[in-house]
Amino acid sequence: MRIVFIGAGGHGKVCAEIAELVGYRDILFLDDDKELNACGKYKNVGKVNDFYKFADPSTSFFVSIGNANIRQRIQRSVEHAGGRIATLVHPDAVVSKDVAIGNGTAVMAGTVINSGTVIGSGVIVNTSSSIDHDCRVGDYCHVAVGTHLCGTVEIGECTWVGAGAVVSNNVSICEGCVIGVGTVVIANIKSAGTYVGVPARKK
Ligand SMILES: CC(C)(COP(=O)(O)OP(=O)(O)OC[C@H]1O[C@@H](n2cnc3c(N)ncnc32)[C@H](O)[C@@H]1OP(=O)(O)O)[C@@H](O)C(=O)NCCC(=O)NCCS
Repeated sequence: MRIVFIGAGGHGKVCAEIAELVGYRDILFLDDDKELNACGKYKNVGKVNDFYKFADPSTSFFVSIGNANIRQRIQRSVEHAGGRIATLVHPDAVVSKDVAIGNGTAVMAGTVINSGTVIGSGVIVNTSSSIDHDCRVGDYCHVAVGTHLCGTVEIGECTWVGAGAVVSNNVSICEGCVIGVGTVVIANIKSAGTYVGVPARKK
């Protein structure tokens, strides 16, 4: 099975390792940065727009770019061109059977995702984070390392919940927000922006 990653940075390296663990044997990268001729032990074989050259029934694609807007744009282009997008779940993630996960989402090692939760497309559920029961995580969000979403939390599209943040139960955060490292969100956030502190305040 072949998988072609788009984005050869550190995030790509972690995603490729998951791909190997779940059985992909042929792992390639594409990146527009000429300096990056490899991503860890995997070869960089071309530029982002070369992806169509690799599209065949035995190939999956995965966009491993941290920036949500770029990740969204490229994933949509690949999908539009008929490319199949993989979903990558680390074997050491604990994910309830009653969880839905969209295409292009990466679930890293040490995460816990509990029953009734729906995770969108192109989401990053990063290392050692937890997402409790009945949450909704919108497309292209990033739940960063060590973050905790309590039960029945909603996160809008393209929102980045920074490392070690906590979102209290039944709280909604709208789309297009950045929640800073270590922030504690205890009330709904209804307008896009950057929020930091304990409790969270708009920056
Ligand atoms: C919130 C964030 C985006 C702000 O970045 P920025 O716009 O460059 O802001 P600055 O670093 O210039 O800081 C501006 C002010 O906000 C404060 N601030 C920044 N981040 C903060 C945080 N997480 N908590 C509390 N205060 C914070 C700074 O102390 C500074 O305060 P001052 O004006 O009184 O000196 C960034 O600090 C952050 O938390 N990013 C998330 C990173 C992350 O989660 N990475 C995980 C990768 S897996």
